[in-house]
Amino acid sequence: NLPAHVKIVEVGPRDGLQNEKEIVPTATKVQLIKMLVSSGLTVVEATSFVSPKWVPQLADAKDVMDAIRNIQGARFPVLTPNLKGFEAAVSAGANEVAIFASASESFSKSNINCSIEDSLARFRDVVSAAREISLPVRGYVSCVVGCPVEGIVPPSKVAYVAKQLFDMGCSEISLGDTIGVGTPGTVIPMLENVMNVVPIDNLAVHFHDTYGQALSNILTSLQVSSPRFPSVHSKLHFLLLDLSIGWVELVLDQVKVILVLSLGYFRFGSIQMGISTVDSSVSGLGGCPYAKGASGNVATEDVVYMLNGLGIETNVDLEKLLLAGDFICKHLRRPPSSKTAVALSSK
Ligand code: HMG
Ligand code: MG
Repeated sequence: NLPAHVKIVEVGPRDGLQNEKEIVPTATKVQLIKMLVSSGLTVVEATSFVSPKWVPQLADAKDVMDAIRNIQGARFPVLTPNLKGFEAAVSAGANEVAIFASASESFSKSNINCSIEDSLARFRDVVSAAREISLPVRGYVSCVVGCPVEGIVPPSKVAYVAKQLFDMGCSEISLGDTIGVGTPGTVIPMLENVMNVVPIDNLAVHFHDTYGQALSNILTSLQVSSPRFPSVHSKLHFLLLDLSIGWVELVLDQVKVILVLSLGYFRFGSIQMGISTVDSSVSGLGGCPYAKGASGNVATEDVVYMLNGLGIETNVDLEKLLLAGDFICKHLRRPPSSKTAVALSSK
């Protein structure tokens, strides 16, 4: 059972670039965003309104937002760690923001300089300010499998933080394996714990490829089922089943019953039970400044290649996406690092 469509949240311009030491000119970031949108990506995380002392690469957040204001066809969420960042983002024209908590105390401290509980209190202020002006808020949970300092992170802790973010009003919770240590063996119990407290339709996964496990973790996430919170498709399935049973009772016409049940099977047979929102970064750019050893995010090109192979719709044009990857890698003076780009360039 796989979803028919997967929404890709492209995080390259933010997560991908935030760790680059050499400052990338604003015009290059803007050109990258334009190329990503023209490849068909409909959500492109554009930048962060964080302290420029902490993340100097994204100090031009306002200028980036000014330059992309009129680009049609995509949403441009931005990271906001506190009310100061939120207010700056809104003044710069942001119409979607993201807050970022951690499931590990040590990572919370090194990433945003406060405890998990203090961060949740800050985020409640951001979410309520966002609600007043009807802005959707995405909530990240970092270190959902492992922490660079604490090691293994218990799934119950991830579920706790995810639920807090969901209950305060985040419309989507992205589960980040920040240091890329997860395998399906650790990702499945983590997802099962989270799915007990947050509906599956509100979840996204965010894998880093440090140990080459990102694609298997994504495939696993698309397949894991949630008995507690069935997805929209499976709710429809249950509705159809109810209607069919109703029909059985009313009509008691066996031919019609068989017809309805088989129609139902073919229409809703492939019930979507898994997660259908996946974060990735063009050319696998990224890594977190406060997660030593974390290599890049999973490459969007490789995710699209896999989803194409599975017959899952993404609306992304792989050729155009490869051009975007090539563009930014040339700028960073390094060869494209997605497997797909390497394979296709050697043809
Ligand atoms: P702090 O030093 O504790 O904050 O930083 P503060 O309130 O004491 O303020 C210190 C200075 O920062 C002050 O300026 C504030 O005005 C300023 P000064 O008086 O020294 O001139 N300041 C700000 N400036 C601009 N925008 C703001 C802002 N807030 C305060 N929003 C803070 C706390 C949260 C600000 C800091 O720790 C920070 O900016 N951290 C951001 C770290 C970050 O961006 N990390 C990467 C993103 S998370 C990630 O990558 C993981 C993820 O991708 C998931 C995954 O991969 O798994 C999401
Ligand atoms: Mg990341």
